[in-house]
Amino acid sequence: MTTGEVTGHRVAAAADLPPGGSRAYAVGDMQVAVFRLRSGELRATDAVCPHAGGPLADGQTDPTKVVCPLHSYAFSLADGSCHNGDYAVRTYTVREEAGEIVVECG
Ligand code: FES
Repeated sequence: MTTGEVTGHRVAAAADLPPGGSRAYAVGDMQVAVFRLRSGELRATDAVCPHAGGPLADGQTDPTKVVCPLHSYAFSLADGSCHNGDYAVRTYTVREEAGEIVVECG
């Protein structure tokens, strides 16, 4: 694989994530948190909080952000920026395809 190449990874059946649901999935040697907003849209970020390793898939979400359950840092679901600290997570393109959730990452 070429460095920087983006690949679609099937991580779960679409039914695995109901509206308002979130889970962490292993994608290669990475952990990616996938969120299904109440609108039905999907978002994906790194699953591990860069502050001290909190599980972001267990955080509270609204349509724009996820709040880490450990120390309440809030990360944008659009670009991964932190609303209240000097940290950032990566975000990933995620889509539903043929009944499965597909995350695009290297
Ligand atoms: S581990 Fe996430 S805010 Fe501290």
